[in-house]
Amino acid sequence: MGIFGGRKPAIGLDIGSSAIKVAELKETKKGYQLASFGIAPIAPEVIVDGAIMNTSAVVDTIRTLLAERKIKTKEVVTSVSGQSVMIRKITMPAMTAEQLEEQIQWEAAQYIPFEITDVNLDFQILNPGDAEGNMEVLLVAAKKEIINDYSSVLTESGLSPVVVDVDAFALQNMYEINYPVMENEVIALVNVGASLINIVVVRGGNYTFSRDISMGGNLFTEEIQKQLSVGYEDAELLKKGGSGKKDTEEVMRKEVDMVIREVSEQIASEVARSLDFYSAAAPADAHINKIWLCGGSCRISGLAESVGKNQNLPVEILDPFRNVERNPKHFDPAYLEEIGPQAAIAVGLALRRAGD
Ligand SMILES: Nc1ncnc2c1ncn2[C@@H]1O[C@H](COP(=O)(O)OP(=O)(O)OP(=O)(O)O)[C@@H](O)[C@H]1O
Ligand SMILES: [Mg+2]
Repeated sequence: MGIFGGRKPAIGLDIGSSAIKVAELKETKKGYQLASFGIAPIAPEVIVDGAIMNTSAVVDTIRTLLAERKIKTKEVVTSVSGQSVMIRKITMPAMTAEQLEEQIQWEAAQYIPFEITDVNLDFQILNPGDAEGNMEVLLVAAKKEIINDYSSVLTESGLSPVVVDVDAFALQNMYEINYPVMENEVIALVNVGASLINIVVVRGGNYTFSRDISMGGNLFTEEIQKQLSVGYEDAELLKKGGSGKKDTEEVMRKEVDMVIREVSEQIASEVARSLDFYSAAAPADAHINKIWLCGGSCRISGLAESVGKNQNLPVEILDPFRNVERNPKHFDPAYLEEIGPQAAIAVGLALRRAGD
């Protein structure tokens, strides 16, 4: 299962722990066009720490979602991330791709925290060789177990997995088609989901660094549940700005806002820790210039501000459909604008094509 290679046009399916997102893009003379998009919630205990605990629930959700959206394409690209995936940029003596193919197991074993026999390996030569005879290689290792789990969920859903990608690359690809890539610009893409935050640093259009943090929007929900003694459903509503029971509404709102502020600070400082890790090893001319937020939880009111203040950097919410033509007869513009940031990875996955 190549992480870097795809064959046919395919749908992008982002299997998140709180929602499954599907996107299909058509390539036209003018660029990309949205062919289909959909999102379906899944219950909290179905996917835990990236592991699929309830296969049939995921299969049912995928089948229903694709049927509802009338999606006929069977080829699908999905992604994995979190603790079962490792991405490293390594420097090694220059050699051809064929030679590297033979040696990659030995090379990789030095860097990966997993048993080499337990992972699928993939690599990409980033630059073939410098004056000292070294080359830079992007190494990706994903646990076979998780790749197999995700692939079999897709096969059971009647689909044909063509690529298993990584969230970080999907984010980078999504950004590239929507925003101008500036040679000297260093940006951080931050996808805040329900249980995971993906961070990717892209310098002049090139992958530079990524980190996944096991934290996300669930933390807001859990804290609201705890501090206000409400159930999961109520906490989710309150988090999204909905109201609680009428008589206590005002008091609750204040408490919720306080929890949201606290957790936002917590998330901002976790993001800061990862970005500091990048900065510590980065050359002086590679400071991050801007942070782009996406993922369902980037809509938490005040989160973008917390992240921006913490880093003293401009923060903007990503629009994965910015350069994607959308027929307003088929897609409600207001809905797409609201849901857009949550579709970032699905759009990135839907971009995968043969030979890229
Ligand atoms: N309007 C909103 N305000 C605040 N939070 C929201 C809003 N809409 C969605 N969320 C939160 O966003 C999260 C879902 O986002 P997303 O679909 O990106 O996550 P996921 O991909 O399912 O999760 P993960 O990638 O972490 O496994 C949930 O925690 C949900 O409560
Ligand atoms: Mg996600």
